[in-house]
Amino acid sequence: MQLRIAFAITSLAVAAFGLAMLALPEPSMSAAVLKQGPEKCQKCHKSEHGVWEGSAHGKSFRDIHKRDKAKDIAKKVGGGNMRKNALCQQCHFTMIDKRGRARANAGPSCESCHGNATSWIEIHNNEKRPKTERRQETAALGMIWPDMKYDIAENCFGCHGMSKLKGSEIDALLDAGHPINGDYEIVRYSQGSVRHRFYPPNIKTNAKMTSAELANFYAIGQLVSLVDAHEAMKKTDHPKYRAALQKRLDLAKRVVTTLPGSGGVLGSPSEAGARKVVSTIASQDLSGKIGSFLPAESSYK
Ligand code: HEC
Ligand code: HEC
Ligand code: HEC
Ligand code: HEC
Repeated sequence: MQLRIAFAITSLAVAAFGLAMLALPEPSMSAAVLKQGPEKCQKCHKSEHGVWEGSAHGKSFRDIHKRDKAKDIAKKVGGGNMRKNALCQQCHFTMIDKRGRARANAGPSCESCHGNATSWIEIHNNEKRPKTERRQETAALGMIWPDMKYDIAENCFGCHGMSKLKGSEIDALLDAGHPINGDYEIVRYSQGSVRHRFYPPNIKTNAKMTSAELANFYAIGQLVSLVDAHEAMKKTDHPKYRAALQKRLDLAKRVVTTLPGSGGVLGSPSEAGARKVVSTIASQDLSGKIGSFLPAESSYK
């Protein structure tokens, strides 16, 4: 009898503990990693949110996990619903904290490109503080500001070039039939459906880049592509991956050769070397020099 009571109390304690566990974030996803989600940004950034909703990033959430191809890839890499698969989540979903649990809330969104806002959302817009100080603080907390073009491009390649993954993860995805795009290039992919440039004074106009801005961004994109592909090459011998990276390297070298002061970074690609070239070309109009490389506007994604 006594034993049975003790057992009942123990079971109750176990059940209560189980409930408490349910209320905690999933162990693999610490609260610090979780993002805010695009609705939070929409409150103050309506125009940008409108553009994002119409892009492939914004539309993806509705159905990508339901596609046969997604189910097939997820099954081959070890299963489960794509939205709940930790590998897929790294690139396809914005994970937020919903009542204490990690939940996919959107596809790739604001924070996929501007950095996880959990630590900076309350700081970045605090106009009571000097902007330079606020900017420095939020950048240190991982915010990627619109004019940090090198960091922006590097971040795109993390997903679009798979360079943020481990070699074994790249192998598994490619063996499962996941695509890798050797033609990914920053201007073509950012100036179509992704473009949001509602800058003052015309904050209602989604302005196109000037030809000088396009050339500069293209050059930065190729410098990033060079360094990113060079580093990613070391991760795996997978033939599909190497073919895609080689394609990017070949183009990047042809473009970077034409940039002033690029000898060093071509000889031995490094982020520091690439950033040095970025600062050299910062105020130059390169549209004459590399204009012929720029993608036609009709090909923008
Ligand atoms: C409460 C309103 C508010 C919210 C919520 C908010 N922002 Fe902002 N954001 C601002 C304001 C105001 C500025 C302009 C700050 C300045 O320039 O001094 C700004 C600036 C920015 C900039 C830089 C713009 C530029 O031209 O340099 C980015 C990028 C940005 N926000 C992204 C986000 C993202 C991503 C989210 C959601 C995670 C977000 N913001 C949420 C008000 C907000
Ligand atoms: C390193 C980032 C990354 C990871 C991790 C990743 N994907 Fe992708 N996925 C992408 C990108 C980027 C695209 C767009 C490909 C393109 O068009 O270049 C994509 C496209 C897809 C597509 C569309 C393919 C097509 O041919 O239309 C499917 C389906 C897909 N991914 C499924 C998955 C599944 C399932 C997982 C997890 C097992 C996963 N992905 C993990 C980045 C990733
Ligand atoms: C695919 C990556 C990507 C996504 C997703 C993205 N941004 Fe941006 N964002 C950029 C880039 C690149 C720029 C720089 C544009 C330029 O100066 O050419 C930018 C610029 C901005 C700016 C300054 C220009 C302007 O329109 O005022 C703000 C604010 C901003 N983003 C907020 C957001 C918010 C809010 C979201 C989500 C609703 C979002 N971004 C989603 C890449 C992205
Ligand atoms: C967190 C990962 C991630 C980041 C960062 C990211 N993307 Fe994507 N992007 C994806 C995924 C995943 C898809 C595929 C969505 C789908 O097909 O459902 C995609 C699709 C796209 C597409 C549509 C592709 C097509 O063939 O039509 C464009 C354009 C694009 N991204 C541009 C960019 C640009 C430009 C940047 C950086 C400024 C960027 N992305 C950053 C994950 C990412």
